[in-house]
Amino acid sequence: MMKQNNNNPQQIQLTHQDLQNLSAFNLMLDLTLKGEKDIDEHLLTIFSLVVAMKPSTIIELGVRTARSTFPFLFAANFVEADLISVDINPVQPDFNFPDNLKSRWSFFQKDAIKFLEEDFPEIMQSDKVVKSGKSKIFYVDDWHSSEHVTKEIDLISEFATPNDIIVLHDLMYYNSQPNYRSEHKPKDPQWANGGPYDAISKLDLDNWEYATIPRCNGLTILRKKASEVYTDL
Ligand SMILES: C[S@@+](CC[C@H](N)C(=O)[O-])C[C@H]1O[C@@H](n2cnc3c(N)ncnc32)[C@H](O)[C@@H]1O
Repeated sequence: MMKQNNNNPQQIQLTHQDLQNLSAFNLMLDLTLKGEKDIDEHLLTIFSLVVAMKPSTIIELGVRTARSTFPFLFAANFVEADLISVDINPVQPDFNFPDNLKSRWSFFQKDAIKFLEEDFPEIMQSDKVVKSGKSKIFYVDDWHSSEHVTKEIDLISEFATPNDIIVLHDLMYYNSQPNYRSEHKPKDPQWANGGPYDAISKLDLDNWEYATIPRCNGLTILRKKASEVYTDL
């Protein structure tokens, strides 16, 4: 924590940890402003969502070079959350994370659906999640076919509540913003059958709500609606 210097109250004393945080924050800002990878403009949003939501647990499906992992993990450290990341391939991080961040991070190298069927229920029923009563964040950015994302939302939905958010990348893939993209015969099979937009657009809006930040392939925030609206009537 930054402290005021007693000899000179105008001067703020920075610890080594403060400097590490400032440098990580600066990197995140720089990537959000000028980064060229397909998620970079969302890095500060991802960080802010975690800091605002203060989840017990973040589930990240799709890691690649840990570009989204960086803001999740950095923010997780401020709110004492655990980050559980999943990718079918080995991860090759663009960053060398310090040990205090790495201790909050677990990685499963497996298919995301298998993870959600085999490992996820136990994680969601753990003390860390249940007893804390805190929120959860689910991030969906792995294989983007409609069937795959539909199945993921089905499995996540068993444990998601209106206190939680599901964040999805790429409903505006190939930078189609501000329009969603949903091709039924795309050249690349990972967008098959309408891609992630197809999956989300079929959700029942009596039970779900969502909105998308129209930058950098779209970052969608999806939430189960709460059942009541409090009014003064
Ligand atoms: C778009 S990249 C993820 C990017 C990362 N979230 C980021 O923002 O930089 C998609 C990742 O999903 C992984 N992937 C593809 N199919 C998968 C599957 N069935 N299960 C888990 N991961 C998968 C790929 O290996 C790739 O690393």
